[in-house]
Formats: sequence, structure tokens, C-alpha cells
Amino acid sequence: MSRLHVAVLGAGGFLGSHIVPGLRSRFDCTIDAIDVDLTKLEYRDALVRRLVARVEEPAVVEQVTSSADVVISLTALCNPAMYSTIPLEVIDANFTHLMPLVKRCAERRVRLVHFSTAEVYGPRALDAAGLPAREMTEDDSSLLLGPVHRERWTYACAKQLLERVIWAHGQHGHLPFTIVRPFNTIGPRMDFLPGVDGEGTPRVLACFMSALLRGEPLPLVAGGQQRRAFMDVSDMVEAVCRIVERPKQANGQIFNLGNPDNDVSIADLARQVAEIFERSAPRAPKARFEHVTAEDFYGPGYADTDERIPDVSKARRLLGWSPGCSLADMLPGIVIDYIERYSERVAAAAPLGLSKLASSA
Ligand code: UGA
Repeated sequence: MSRLHVAVLGAGGFLGSHIVPGLRSRFDCTIDAIDVDLTKLEYRDALVRRLVARVEEPAVVEQVTSSADVVISLTALCNPAMYSTIPLEVIDANFTHLMPLVKRCAERRVRLVHFSTAEVYGPRALDAAGLPAREMTEDDSSLLLGPVHRERWTYACAKQLLERVIWAHGQHGHLPFTIVRPFNTIGPRMDFLPGVDGEGTPRVLACFMSALLRGEPLPLVAGGQQRRAFMDVSDMVEAVCRIVERPKQANGQIFNLGNPDNDVSIADLARQVAEIFERSAPRAPKARFEHVTAEDFYGPGYADTDERIPDVSKARRLLGWSPGCSLADMLPGIVIDYIERYSERVAAAAPLGLSKLASSA
């Protein structure tokens, strides 16, 4: 039997840089690791071919769909600060640029594992009738997008439309697909630190680590009462391996992948991260917290999700998967990795005030 060949598009991103080594350690496979920047993919292996390229290039689409048994599609612009500042780029990256890939996978019947987002559920969980629910459920929840001037939902809308395109190719054609909706997955190498290896506003974990390493207050948007359920990236890697391993159970399905047991307010997350940081870097200044308005932090057009808890019963049932890592298990390793990776570079970088962090979003 020939070796499994996987194409990972977005292999140089946070998730890709964990998924590529995860696949290699689980399967006897070759991988085409494709991204515009592969710096984060520190993993090297003779069976992993690194290709610096854009996913929308016709030659890349042709190559990937003519050679891969499975395509894992991870490329996205997925930082909320972008949704209301560069919405056209967000629509292109999350929809337009992926249409040729989806179409060609469908024509060639190549298995596609596409990463969508938990954002498609919108600001809160609703049941099939549109009434409030506790958890977000793949095949029942109503999907709620805010008004068009709330550009926050541009991303969710683009992601949802691509889900519907993929679904239609599966239902009315022959595309073997799985759609993943990740819920706040965190781990080492997530995003970037502003002024060090990127510009703008990253997601919350990197914002907090940036503030701690710079001795600045941790910004709590709208007081930090909104909640998220955080999952460790190792649980995500395990789920992806099971999806690859079990095409019969996974094809034609949408899966929430997240950890409902790690539901926490953002203010609480800030406290936990700060405590671990203070223990791990005892000479650093004591952490401070600052309430900021969403408008000041992100600019106009932002809107927030109040709470985002995944129902993962389908992934448990069909994949035999459950997320195992608690916040207490995952946060120390993540915080220490950021300290080791960044403290010297932050010390060498120019100071960055909150206003810079906000205005560059
Ligand atoms: C984002 C993306 O839109 C999703 O697609 C993605 O699945 C998700 O991140 C993820 O990490 O997996 P969101 O949860 O809103 O969604 O992203 P964050 O930027 O991490 O924000 C989380 C919460 O923290 C928001 O309420 C935000 O306002 C708040 N926040 C962020 C702060 O209070 N302080 C900060 O410094 C940054």
C-alpha cells in the first residue's frame, strides 16, 4: 500500500506548526507543508516537503489536488482586530482565495479537512428555534450574525459561506469533506507579539503575554466578563489525527473541537496567566490590569461573543475523542514557552503603549 500523502495548507501558522509534527508521529505519511511563511514550523523531517507559496495560486491548487490523499486547509486571517479594519482582505483570505481549492478537490474527489471557526455561531448559543441555549451544537444551533455595520461578523459570514459551499459540493457532488469549528485553541507559537514579530493586535493570549513581558497592564476589554472555553493545542492535534484516521465516521460531518470544561471569563484567564507569569519570572514587575472599552481597543465595528461553549458530543461519539487538558495543565507550559521564546526580544524591542497596540489594530 502506498504511503498516505497529506497536504497541509497553512502549515506555518500556529495550528499547522503543531499539526504537521502530530501527523508525522501518528502516521507513516508524507506531507507537503505549504504556507507563505514557514518560520513557525520548526519541525524538520525528510518526509515533510516545505513549500513557500500562496494557497490561491493555480499551480498550488493543481499540485495539491493532483497528489494529496487528504488536504488539510488551515489558511485564514483569523484575528478579530482584522475583521473591522481590513474586512476585504478577511473575505478574500477566508472565502475567495479558497474557492478554487474547494472546487478542484470536489472535481477530483480529494478528501478535504477544512478549518472553519466557532465564530459562525455568532455572539451566543441559540437552539434550532433561535432560543438561548448553553452550548453551540453543529447540526442544530441557529447561526446569528450581527448587522452589517458590525464588521466583526464579516469573518464569520465569509467562513459560513465557505462551509455552505463545501457542504453543497458534498451533498450534491462527490466531495469527501470534514469541516472543523475550532473553539479558542491555545498553545505555544500562537499569533505574534506586537512590535517583536508582528504588527497589530493578536488574540487574547498573545495580548496578555505581550503586556506581561513589557511590564504593561493587561487590557480587559469591556472589563473581561465575556467568557471563552480554551482548549490546548495537543487536544486539537489528537482530534485532527482521528479525523484523518477515520474517514468513514468523519466524512460529511461538521465537528466542534473545543473544551467545554475550560469555560472561563477573560478576566479570570488574565489572573491565571498573570499568576503563572509572576511565579515563572519572579523578577518581572507585578501584573496590573486595565479596563478598556472595545471601541478604544479595536475601533468601530467591533462586537463580541458573550460566551462560547462547544457541544463536543458528536466528536466524542464519532471520533472517540475527548479533550483532556485543563487550564491548570496547559497554562504553565504555554506561559513558560512565551517567556523563553520572547523575553530577550521584548527587552530589545521599542516600548509599546496600549494606544499603539490599539491604534495599530
Ligand atoms: C477569535 C477568532 O475570531 C476565532 O475565529 C478563533 O476561533 C478564536 O479567536 C480562537 O482563538 O480560536 P475571539 O475568541 O473573540 O475569537 O478572540 P480573542 O481575540 O482571543 O478574544 C477573546 C476575548 O478576549 C474577546 O472578548 C476580546 O475582547 C478579549 N480580549 C482580547 C481582551 O479582553 N484583552 C485583550 O488584550 C485581547
